[in-house]
Amino acid sequence: MAKLNKLALVRAAARARRGAVAPYSRFQVGAALLTRSGQVITGANVESASYGLTCCAERVALFNALTAGQRDFVAVAVVARTAGGPMPCGACRQLLAEYAPRAAVWVADSRSLGAVRAFTVKELLPAAFVLTPKRNARRPGSARRGG
Ligand code: THU
Repeated sequence: MAKLNKLALVRAAARARRGAVAPYSRFQVGAALLTRSGQVITGANVESASYGLTCCAERVALFNALTAGQRDFVAVAVVARTAGGPMPCGACRQLLAEYAPRAAVWVADSRSLGAVRAFTVKELLPAAFVLTPKRNARRPGSARRGG
């Protein structure tokens, strides 16, 4: 079981926030995921001039972790300079519900990292949309002739 404590994960999110690329909103967000094995994987928000392409810190961290092969998350910390800490947006809640359903969500204001608010993913997104993965879905290279 992961040993890292809440404040350490929040601090990792605060450090990751320094990597934010947010020239349009100037709202920098950092996120840190803790895996059951004790690994910490981080991310920060990245914005685009085509605003809708922006990716939140939570999703950058989650995509980093998933593509590194991680699947079992016990907590995610999110830090920004905002009263009470940043609440994950709807898109991030959906991704957390799919890939980190049991993770504790810890949010903190960068000016007071010790004051952490805790949520469950279920609280943040009750009745999440789910799709059962298809058992015989084709994988790259498994295409049948003529299909
Ligand atoms: N943002 C995050 O990274 N995470 C959140 O939880 C809320 C919003 C980012 C997206 C955008 O770059 C900026 O904050 C302002 O919306």
